[in-house]
Amino acid sequence: MSIDRIVSQRRRAVLRAAGGLAVGAVIAPSLLMAPAQGATPRVVEYRLRAGPGKAALVGPPHSDTAVWSYNAQVPGPTLRARQGDRLRVVVENALAEDTTVHWHGVRLPNAMDGVPYLTQPPIAAIGGGFVYEFDLPDAGTYWYHPHVRSSEQIGRGLSGTLIVDEHAPIRVDRDVTWVLDDWRLERSAQIRSDFGNMMDATHAGRLGNTVTINGVVPDSDNVRAGERIRLRLVNVANARIFALDFAGHEPRVVAIDGQPVEPHAPEGGRVVVAPAMRVDLVIDMAGRPGERHAVYDRYYPRQHYRVLDLAYTNEPPLRESPLDAPIRLPANPVPEPDVANAKRHRVLLGGGMMGRMMGGMTGGRMMSMRDMMGRGMAWTLNGVAENGHTPAPMFTLARGRSYVIELVNDTAWDHPMHLHGYAFRVVTRNGAPTRRRPWQDTVLLSPEDRVEIAFVADNPGDWMFHCHILEHMAAGMMGIVRVA
Ligand code: C2O
Ligand code: CU
Repeated sequence: MSIDRIVSQRRRAVLRAAGGLAVGAVIAPSLLMAPAQGATPRVVEYRLRAGPGKAALVGPPHSDTAVWSYNAQVPGPTLRARQGDRLRVVVENALAEDTTVHWHGVRLPNAMDGVPYLTQPPIAAIGGGFVYEFDLPDAGTYWYHPHVRSSEQIGRGLSGTLIVDEHAPIRVDRDVTWVLDDWRLERSAQIRSDFGNMMDATHAGRLGNTVTINGVVPDSDNVRAGERIRLRLVNVANARIFALDFAGHEPRVVAIDGQPVEPHAPEGGRVVVAPAMRVDLVIDMAGRPGERHAVYDRYYPRQHYRVLDLAYTNEPPLRESPLDAPIRLPANPVPEPDVANAKRHRVLLGGGMMGRMMGGMTGGRMMSMRDMMGRGMAWTLNGVAENGHTPAPMFTLARGRSYVIELVNDTAWDHPMHLHGYAFRVVTRNGAPTRRRPWQDTVLLSPEDRVEIAFVADNPGDWMFHCHILEHMAAGMMGIVRVA
């Protein structure tokens, strides 16, 4: 279907709803009908146009970087709605290749999940369109990105944040989002086109050389003494894991992957955000006017660096002692798994360099690691290397039942594993119960880690389960969980 048809079909509805606002504008929620309690949900509509563009990632004297972006912005526009709203997003594809949009972390109907061939036909190059429309059951910080040739499409800049506001948000002075990204740039500030190389695929993925926050290489961020900030961290990098150290401050984690968690200080003093993960922090700006406090990334050993400075303005403190207001977020309506009576499955993560080099099933044939690598594959889930979007399911779950899935990392590498369509509780790590049983949609496994996740299989469909290091995903670390 061409985008023209969609636009003309949709334009009337949009114009009617918006009282004549131009198509392409963000429709202010207040302009749409606010239904009475229990009536059909309020509809919030956006338009996204994926296409080639430019972005001033590094800034002068460097030239702009050629990127692929949504609405000519890197990161894409922040979409915002309220819990319980219905989100409608009219997508146009102006790229020279097919794409889709996946709503990472949102518990939505399978047909809206944005997985090519599995849940929808890809949105055709140069002019294809698709309308996504679904309810937003959970408040929190989510994001969107393509699911076609993800390593290159996301790596060239296609991603954006989706914020779903609570009906009664916690009290803060400012609500700030940092979209963390990592780019591999040439000296000319252009993106190196070596996507899909086997070196990245078999090691830590496509680590870049340029970290950006909200699409620019950061130097400092202005803050005011005494203010309380809700800081939403969103890691849209292909492969880089961040471990932010807010030296001189006491951030508290209030949500992980959009889902509220009992407020707590980050373990080891570092806020670990693996690719695709989101962490919401509450930070009281405890410094004095005029001070500068560096924020460091300390994830990779011997590669620590200063990300940016929190630059306190010279204004007098907003208040002398920290705001005395609760920071615990209201729970989302995620069904509670019955862990004691749950059925169990196991997923073994295999492959990569410096591991057992076991090989695996590839394209229906048992292959040595060497032969796998000849076909661009390097990783397995339960012994199978898969990088298409429609493999046979790894297993089928009975709708409505509780499940515990044990993930075992039998490789020498980190893997942030993501399940579509669900939030799951992380119940154990390396045999020990986790302290807060956080709800997540992406869980980071370090080498040799064993993690158990639990959830109620309440959302029917075929759901991708894959590593969110996008080069690992493209090289075999991908599967499907069927709920029927
Ligand atoms: Cu961010 Cu398949 O997902
Ligand atoms: Cu991985």
